[in-house]
Amino acid sequence: MFKTDIYINRRNALRSLIPSGVVLFLGHVESPVNYAGNTYRFRQDSNFLYFFGLNIPQLAGVIDIEEGTDCIYGNDLDIEDIIWNGDLPSMEQLAAQVGISSVSPYRDLRIKLTSAIRKGRKIHFAPPYRGDSKIILSDLLGLRIGELSNYSSKKLIKSIVQLRSEKEPCEIEEIERACDTGYEMHTLAMRLCKPGIFEYQITGAMEGIAGAANGMPSFPSIQSQNSEILHNHNHNNVLQSGKMLVTDAGAETYMGYASDFTRTVPVDGKFTAKQLDIYNIVLAANNLAQEIAKPGVFYYEVHIAAAKVITEGLKSVGLMKGNVDDAVQCGAHALFFPHGLGHMMGLDVHDMEDLGEKYVGYDDEIERSTQFGTAYLRLGRRLKKNFVLTVEPGIYFIPALINKWKSEKINSSFIDFRKVGEYIDFGGIRLEDNIVITDEGCRRLGKKRIPITQEEVEQEMSK
Ligand code: GLY
Ligand code: MN
Repeated sequence: MFKTDIYINRRNALRSLIPSGVVLFLGHVESPVNYAGNTYRFRQDSNFLYFFGLNIPQLAGVIDIEEGTDCIYGNDLDIEDIIWNGDLPSMEQLAAQVGISSVSPYRDLRIKLTSAIRKGRKIHFAPPYRGDSKIILSDLLGLRIGELSNYSSKKLIKSIVQLRSEKEPCEIEEIERACDTGYEMHTLAMRLCKPGIFEYQITGAMEGIAGAANGMPSFPSIQSQNSEILHNHNHNNVLQSGKMLVTDAGAETYMGYASDFTRTVPVDGKFTAKQLDIYNIVLAANNLAQEIAKPGVFYYEVHIAAAKVITEGLKSVGLMKGNVDDAVQCGAHALFFPHGLGHMMGLDVHDMEDLGEKYVGYDDEIERSTQFGTAYLRLGRRLKKNFVLTVEPGIYFIPALINKWKSEKINSSFIDFRKVGEYIDFGGIRLEDNIVITDEGCRRLGKKRIPITQEEVEQEMSK
């Protein structure tokens, strides 16, 4: 847990942004896997963690703006809990760790909210995304489950986004810890990768590193020799000579902060010339993005600049043609780069996505594009100092998409479909780093960059 003042300051900052009402943060309850007593590892709601810090199930935090009070609702352990799960400090002692002196039993939350509702006071809550939380909120607030999101507070959403977007030094340190674990995960994956091994053998060993660092993977690892599939969670293949293995994985620290890296390596340990041509285009796009990301620049512009590097590169190998600026404006690059350049990262790997990407990645200055490809860009707005984000360009040869564009002649003046046919079994390449925006540019997070050049990757794989 961070120092007590961190949580007090965050709640005070929130209070200064919300003019009136009662702000409710519902913590998570345990989540069963296949029967009630067999639960997933507990993961607290990130907004609750941010303002109330306690990583314990079945708590709620309430900030009463007019009264100027912060209260935690939760129960002390009973003798059964202590016998089976061990003792914990009292709720009062736990609450004191995050600067709160007012503690009430969980059942009193209903009394507090009912009284506020009767007085016509606004209850601010963020849109719930877990089934349990929806049921609890629906019951407490007397709203139908389907209506909850409509009644969630835009003021609260925007205030949380404002506060959580600019990371504090203690958060950056924690994210960097997650990045260092990510380094160990990815370099192990590189060393284990070889023909004949099952993908899941690598996935399991790699995810164990996150556990051994007292955390867990920050999302289900994406790892596959079918590297053109953007989010593949199936790891059942035996690695084949000639393929490339994509690994998109990161760690979450004990405190809940994430890293998220992608590397793509040749299963054989050495790139072919054809693989390397495409690989180096993706690497150039990644490097350029890190050169130009700085405060004041729209991340949308960085995305477009990366798309131009990709288009230029694909032109040089004969896969694309025509004017690069025109091609990117028409979205022709999205045949090969059909996703966004990156997203915010923090307590969530896609930070604050529960609050709505239009609030996290876009604002009054910039709306999300509707064009295929760029529409998947989660972060388009102007960058600010201490934003933490990912840089993850890619080039993929997705047979179904290629066949669709070819038969429908989509962007055919910019694409050489005959040449693309020579790459139909190529797979895909994505290279992802994590950065923090600094005064004048950005800094890559983690003590060392995960091997990324041809030489570095081949050397790591030979170990
Ligand atoms: N790491 C997966 C993603 O960013 O979507
Ligand atoms: Mn990512």
